[in-house]
Amino acid sequence: MKDMDLIEALSKIVEISHSNIEIDSRLNGILKLIERNINGSEAHIYILDQDNRLTLRYSSRKSPLSILLSPHRPLLGEGIVGSIAQKRETQFFTIQNVPKRLGFLLLGDLDKVIVPYRRFAFLPISDESKCYGILMVLSSYGSSFTEAEKRLLNIAAKELMGLIKLAELYTDSSKRITELMTLSEIGKVLISNRDLTSMLKDIALIVAKTLSAEFVHITIKEKNGEKPPRSVTFGEITKDQEEEVKKIEELVMKETRRQSIPFMNDHVIYSYPVISKGQIIGVISACKMRQTAPFSGQDEFYILDTISHYLSSGFENIILRTELKDILEELNSAQERIIAQEKLRSLGEMTANIAHEIKNPLLVIGGFAKRLAKKLDLRPQEKRYLNIILREVGRLEGILNDVLTYAKDIPFKRTVLNITDVISEIVNLFRSDPLWEKIDIEEDYEKDIPPVYCDPEQMKQVFINILVNAYEAMEGEGKIGIRVFKKEIQAKSYVAVSIADTGGGIDPLIVDNIFNPFFTTKEKGTGLGLSISNKIVLGHKGKIEVQNRFGIGATFIIYLPAYEDSTSSSQNGKIREGGREER
Ligand SMILES: Nc1ncnc2c1ncn2[C@@H]1O[C@H](COP(=O)(O)OP(=O)(O)OP(=O)(O)O)[C@@H](O)[C@H]1O
Ligand SMILES: [Mg+2]
Repeated sequence: MKDMDLIEALSKIVEISHSNIEIDSRLNGILKLIERNINGSEAHIYILDQDNRLTLRYSSRKSPLSILLSPHRPLLGEGIVGSIAQKRETQFFTIQNVPKRLGFLLLGDLDKVIVPYRRFAFLPISDESKCYGILMVLSSYGSSFTEAEKRLLNIAAKELMGLIKLAELYTDSSKRITELMTLSEIGKVLISNRDLTSMLKDIALIVAKTLSAEFVHITIKEKNGEKPPRSVTFGEITKDQEEEVKKIEELVMKETRRQSIPFMNDHVIYSYPVISKGQIIGVISACKMRQTAPFSGQDEFYILDTISHYLSSGFENIILRTELKDILEELNSAQERIIAQEKLRSLGEMTANIAHEIKNPLLVIGGFAKRLAKKLDLRPQEKRYLNIILREVGRLEGILNDVLTYAKDIPFKRTVLNITDVISEIVNLFRSDPLWEKIDIEEDYEKDIPPVYCDPEQMKQVFINILVNAYEAMEGEGKIGIRVFKKEIQAKSYVAVSIADTGGGIDPLIVDNIFNPFFTTKEKGTGLGLSISNKIVLGHKGKIEVQNRFGIGATFIIYLPAYEDSTSSSQNGKIREGGREER
């Protein structure tokens, strides 16, 4: 290499290095220039990664050697490349003074591939504080590097160092920006005051976007595991993959530390614990291709670490808030139930007393009326009056019986049964009634309904009351839809029976009153049907819900606790299997 050539090459290097093209292209350009100016050579750059391994990342061209070398990532200090990076000392070898086993120094048994090379240069790409990588130049011509060539390589290594430093700076700042953007997006979600699951979904999406992950899976435990954990996934995930993710998450939960595990052929799952007050409350996992820009390896850990820390404190608040909301809801409904029961109880006592007072005189009236009716010498007019008395006494007795049923505490005779059997029995009964001829009853019973622990006779009473109301609302003609299905309410399983009619619904002005005793809009109604039904259902720890579509129809839904739950929540010996419940 002549001096003129050297000067020209050097100025080209400086020109490339300071140009405006992408950094990668600048690095490749410098390697090409080295290749062109040093006879029979090829130039490569190893980059020192954060895990202290060197990766062959840039080559002036693909050669059999570079293909062999690229999968191997020597550790700092390992082999010739690793030791140059560690010592940060330039080394030039010729075929005469090359260590006998240079091939071995590079990688295993490479002697054969090394054979065509005659000159070897290894230059650290470093400054005073840090080594960024190695410039490796191999040539199959000449006996040794000339002084000019050495100077060219030295300057090239310096320019490369500047470029790589710049690239690191770029990735670093774009990483920071991504991180800040991610955190601010997550922050917005965390304060959005929505329900936990939808927040988790959004967070999974944000994390997946940031990491360019294939899928992100988040599991969060609530109430110290009292409730089943919530998990969400963003991205496509098969059943098998989900199983695998669960195993990794269990491992993270058990060991309370992050894990990264190879997944499928070329993917990795990174799993991170979410910790609150020193306790692990969940796991966040991301699955992605191994080493894809902008983050790779260590970086995944870094960003997930930041995210999981951020989430930990955010979730603490959300979980507290969700729990508080649950408790408040529970409290409210308990309060409503108590008020309703109390109202019923005092009204019940009063009516029971009155009923009792009326019952005796009524019996007397009825008795005398009957005796009078037996007399033969009555005039037709008198006979008609007496019949009216007897009919009305009968009706009053009926009402009294209703009142007493409502007021008295009739003990439940409970058994474990399938509610579908009870309701379908009632439906068949009505179907065979000629008065119900013009009522079209549609049944839809879900299979595998859990059993309930209830008094079948009293439940029949409930269904009859509601069905009769439907019949009366439709004036004997219309459609009734009956469904039985499972329903989870606040993590508790219920069996629901819904009865929907097409009787025009309930006037919104009175809908709040329909469960009150003696509330009726019917000429001959007592207004006790729904209050008796409500009392029976409440007594079974269930509830009745009304979905009213005024102008169309009303739907009454009866919820009864599924058997598993009712035993676990009443293990105070009150309930004896198949027996009756003392109250
Ligand atoms: N399916 C329904 N469609 C429209 N209104 C209804 C329906 N069910 C109940 N109601 C309204 O609720 C009121 C109270 O019903 P409830 O069954 O307690 O008493 P009732 O039917 O009037 O009398 P009883 O059942 O004692 O003979 C009814 O009078 C009616 O106004
Ligand atoms: Mg009724």
